Amino acid sequence: MSIRFRILLSFMTTLAVTVLIFFLTAYLISVAVTGDARSISRFYNIHYTLHPLTAEEETIFMEMKYLAKENPEKLKSRTLLENYDFQLKMVQAGLIVRNNSELLFMSPTLRETKVESALPDYEMNNYSIRNSFNVGSRFFSYAKFDFYFSEQDRGSIFVIRERSPFAEMIRTLLPILIGVLLAILLLTSIVIYRYVTRTIVNPINVLRDSAQRIKEGDLQFKLKPESADEIGQLSMAFEQMRQKLNESIGLQVQYEENRKQLISNISHDLKTPITTIKGYVEGIRDGVADTKEKMDKYIDTIYTKTMDMDRLVDELFLYSKLDLKREPFSFETVDLHRFMQDMFEETEFEFRNKEITFLWEDARYPEVFVLADREKLKRVFSNLLNNCVKYMDKLDKVIVVKTTVNDRQFTVEIRDNGPGIRPEVLPHIFERFYRGEPSRNTKTGGSGLGLAIAKQIVEGHGGRIWAESEWGQGTSLFFSLQILSTHGDNDAKNINH
Ligand SMILES: Nc1ncnc2c1ncn2[C@@H]1O[C@H](COP(=O)(O)OP(=O)(O)O)[C@@H](O)[C@H]1O
Ligand SMILES: [Mg+2]
Repeated sequence: MSIRFRILLSFMTTLAVTVLIFFLTAYLISVAVTGDARSISRFYNIHYTLHPLTAEEETIFMEMKYLAKENPEKLKSRTLLENYDFQLKMVQAGLIVRNNSELLFMSPTLRETKVESALPDYEMNNYSIRNSFNVGSRFFSYAKFDFYFSEQDRGSIFVIRERSPFAEMIRTLLPILIGVLLAILLLTSIVIYRYVTRTIVNPINVLRDSAQRIKEGDLQFKLKPESADEIGQLSMAFEQMRQKLNESIGLQVQYEENRKQLISNISHDLKTPITTIKGYVEGIRDGVADTKEKMDKYIDTIYTKTMDMDRLVDELFLYSKLDLKREPFSFETVDLHRFMQDMFEETEFEFRNKEITFLWEDARYPEVFVLADREKLKRVFSNLLNNCVKYMDKLDKVIVVKTTVNDRQFTVEIRDNGPGIRPEVLPHIFERFYRGEPSRNTKTGGSGLGLAIAKQIVEGHGGRIWAESEWGQGTSLFFSLQILSTHGDNDAKNINH
């Protein structure tokens, strides 16, 4: 059963019950007021008995009465009677003149009413000249005058008028009343039904159509809730669901795109060294490397290319494990300053050889403990520092490491005075395989995975990584980690991702 039909049914039931209750109430009220249902008509009878005729009828009646007293024979004149009857007819009354048991005259209008049978007997004292009577269900009021045409020749004048007693009135008015009532009820019902349909059924239909569209894979539409009621809320929830679905499908498409890009990048990055190695191996096989120096050079190149490939595969492997959250982190409480001090001892030595000024603003904070995976954190530092060295283009090479503690965040800044990063490149440097310099020249060659790996590791620690750079001036890479405590304990914690 559809909602529309159910609503219609409920309206019809209400309608029927309302009509029933209306009649029942009307009946009960009439009984309560009058004592019993029929006494209403009795009340009207009394009224009409006292005032059976209107003023005009009364005048005509008086005239005839006068005539009956003074000159009764005249009342036998048919033309006169017809004339009176005509006047009475104008005011919707009728005339009967009786002579003994015979009717001398009867208005044609009264003929089909059979009033003659109900006419009262002679009563020569004329005590009761105004009264009413019923013929079947019809009700009449009259004024009568009894007189003698001559001795023993009795006559009566009746001016009769049909009245609508209450029952009669109701009987004629009831169908109209019921009609009007029903029409009002029906009209209200239709209006309410249309309103309910518009506010409930139509939005539900819209929702159903939307669900159908979603089922068919069409998510490019917008659902506007038209009210704030439950249906509106449902529409809103539906619209949110559509948006989420649309977003997730969009994300899926993007993931798919990324995956294709990744495969293409990997193939390219592996293909290049393999081609080189193949070329040199062929050179050796064909005897092109005929001298010892040439041979050494060929072997060296093959070795470096193999190492490049090895590193690339390692990085790729690490990145993919981090990306799939399959790389376990062994977290422990680490005193970051001590940790950096140990690590930088080696770095400083290495940088001194490369004539790089390495500055570390250190030891201003005694102990800062964070939860970290030492090996992975080392990897972050080495990836960031390697970039500084690799892209350095100045003669005066300076790399500065600065640490700040605020708001329970430990922030490391690694700054260089290298070439800087162009503003349009900056937002992409943490993307996998993204390289600021797409021509993969060997000096600055790399996989484009260094920063992507650093990002995965920092985020795996619940931290944040970002970069700032001024083109031509240098680059700053920041990462921040949540501080455990500044005093701390050394409880090792192992959390596997
Ligand atoms: N210190 C830096 N100075 C200038 N450019 C940098 C620096 N660090 C990163 N970049 C830019 O960010 C890109 C991405 O770095 P990364 O993910 O380490 O990949 P790769 O070093 O293999 O190119 C680099 O190609 C480079 O353009
Ligand atoms: Mg790098």
